[in-house]
Amino acid sequence: MGKVYVFDHPLIQHKLTFIRDKNTGTKEFRELVDEVSTLMAFEITRELPLEDIEIDTPVSKANAKTLTGKKLGIVPILRAGLGMVDGILKLIPAAKVGHVGLYRDPETLKPIEYYVKLPSDVEERDFILVDPMLATGGSAVEAINSLKKRGAKNITFMCLVACPEGVEAIQAEHPDVDIYIAALDEKLNEKGYIVPGLGDAGDRLFGTK
Ligand code: PRP
Ligand code: URA
Repeated sequence: MGKVYVFDHPLIQHKLTFIRDKNTGTKEFRELVDEVSTLMAFEITRELPLEDIEIDTPVSKANAKTLTGKKLGIVPILRAGLGMVDGILKLIPAAKVGHVGLYRDPETLKPIEYYVKLPSDVEERDFILVDPMLATGGSAVEAINSLKKRGAKNITFMCLVACPEGVEAIQAEHPDVDIYIAALDEKLNEKGYIVPGLGDAGDRLFGTK
């Protein structure tokens, strides 16, 4: 079973409080999502492999560490996942960015796919799939299906707010996928919103309603 990692870093928890607050406006919401995504990316890259290289410092030769050049891909689930991409790219600027477009049918809550574009060397990359919300889990499960169908072998899912139903859905369908979460909330309400959650992430990021 993939691991479920809930971030307890004080900076992440502090910023998430303002993201949740309904009085936080679009500009600040977007900035905070960007900042939390950077902080989460710092943690998520903790196990990237390193190799030794020899360099010259101004004083002497030195054996120093460098990333092995492992190929990474970031895939936001459109549209709300877009708000997390720049924050991650600040730390791993060489990553390629794919896109999976899905929206939740408001009646059935089932995901409808409308767009997919991935890097051409999909089989060689490790992917970080990002979306601020993991609610029923339908969108994440479908996006992972979409990546795997195109050859992706190593996928990590990263979101801001999840609920137990969404985590269970990923674990049931994709037990190989590790899940990184800033907060695990209590439940889903009858409309499929996470409680207490933060509302509609896409609308709050883009100022739509
Ligand atoms: C939201 C959110 C997730 C999905 C989560 O997107 O960004 O993609 O709902 O819900 P689920 O786990 O029940 O599938 P939405 O469908 O509202 O589309 P948007 O990003 O275009 O606003
Ligand atoms: N999508 C959102 O944007 N928010 C929720 O609470 C659930 C799904």
